Amino acid sequence: MTQDVATDRQEFSFDELMADDPFEKSLVTNDIQCHGGYIDGEYVSPRGALRRPAIRNWRERLSVADHPLITIPEKYVPPNYPNYDQAKYLLQEGVVEPVTRALTIIAIVEGFGARIREVSVPDFDAEVEESVDGTALAHLASGLFEAHARDEAGHRDQGGHKQMWEAARDAGLDKPEIPDDVLLRLMSGGPPATRKRLYPELSERMESMLLMMTNVLIIETFAEDTFNWAKKLLGDPEVSADPVQAAHIVDCIARDEVPHVDYLTVALSELRARTLIGADGQSTLSGADVIDGVFRRQLRGMATVRPQQSRERSQADIHQAVSDKRRASSVARQFEELDSGWTFPHRDDEELDVLLKSA
Ligand SMILES: [Fe+2]
Ligand SMILES: [Fe+2]
Repeated sequence: MTQDVATDRQEFSFDELMADDPFEKSLVTNDIQCHGGYIDGEYVSPRGALRRPAIRNWRERLSVADHPLITIPEKYVPPNYPNYDQAKYLLQEGVVEPVTRALTIIAIVEGFGARIREVSVPDFDAEVEESVDGTALAHLASGLFEAHARDEAGHRDQGGHKQMWEAARDAGLDKPEIPDDVLLRLMSGGPPATRKRLYPELSERMESMLLMMTNVLIIETFAEDTFNWAKKLLGDPEVSADPVQAAHIVDCIARDEVPHVDYLTVALSELRARTLIGADGQSTLSGADVIDGVFRRQLRGMATVRPQQSRERSQADIHQAVSDKRRASSVARQFEELDSGWTFPHRDDEELDVLLKSA
């Protein structure tokens, strides 16, 4: 399916990065026409006809220059919470709401992914010593962010991941009642903390973009475990109303995430191999120092805070879903016993393992 695009081709127009493969049939679910489609009975992700070979070519260029790719070792990826056994237990007990809530939150968060198109990209010519011609970096603002936003939130009348997760949830849990406070509770995590600049020498725009891309890359990598969890749970005929369709939709979404992880990895690795110029136009910083510093800090934060928050939220969800207090406590206890437990493998004062693999 990948078009035969010579590896020396490094420049792609906006329209090319949006171009679909010639689908024979599209994915329609929950009465919504979704992105992507089928070729020879196989699901193919949207906007991939040239985006796929483009990312491949940029990665190849890094590899030829012997520059490594950043990566997140599996041991740093927290397992989805609740785990499969816990979620299955709740469904078997008829306590559907916490699982409905968890899947609805995933759908909402996918929709938030559209915000990536609002990231403002710094002036690379002024803020990077080496040229960025023919790189993923040079295409962030001219297609890569936009394609990513469309994949997550849908585009015009076409459903994206937000709508696909809702469809998977509705197929698997048989159109469950959606608690009306999901969005409210999701948004009431307190006001965002004011952020201290990590590299005050850099322009605000450069630092914000790096933080955003790093966060999204970490979330996308953590999501792989969520996909496996959802496929197993919604694909389990003992608890799923439509195991085949529900698991299939999740599988389609998981495939669509591959280019996201790929282009973010390549772009951050390209920057890592370069020299950053400070906002004063004079000072220089090693891209490797900055990217590794941001990456390690964000990874440690997200991998420790999120599992803890999910645990606390799940307990609250169970108590909210089961009105009989004694039964709620007993379900919550049983649920806790199924917890597989996970803690971040490094103490605060320990360096994270080098996050590199060769391109
Ligand atoms: Fe997504
Ligand atoms: Fe994504």
